[in-house]
Amino acid sequence: MPKITYVSVDKTPQTIDVPLGTSVMRGAVSQGVDGIVALCGGNLQCATCHVYVDPETAAKTVPIGSDEGDMLEYTASPRRPESRLSCQLEVTDALDGLIVHLPEKQR
Ligand code: FES
Repeated sequence: MPKITYVSVDKTPQTIDVPLGTSVMRGAVSQGVDGIVALCGGNLQCATCHVYVDPETAAKTVPIGSDEGDMLEYTASPRRPESRLSCQLEVTDALDGLIVHLPEKQR
């Protein structure tokens, strides 16, 4: 199972095994990672699953889709080049070792 590391605002890392076919958001929510709210349940309607992908692991991710790019305009914390919506990051073997940083606020 791919391992994904979620780094809190205070820099505390939490590494979790996340099942294939789910999402970086689902991995966090199902295992109690604070900092991802996911109000819409992964339907690209809330932007409360915002994360910053660590630049050293960004090559593991697929490019941002246009709908995701549009929704990233509504994040509560500033959008940065490394911003992604974690519900749109499907977990594949390619994501093993991904590191995401949680934003200060989600709403
Ligand atoms: S969970 Fe709502 S946009 Fe990702």
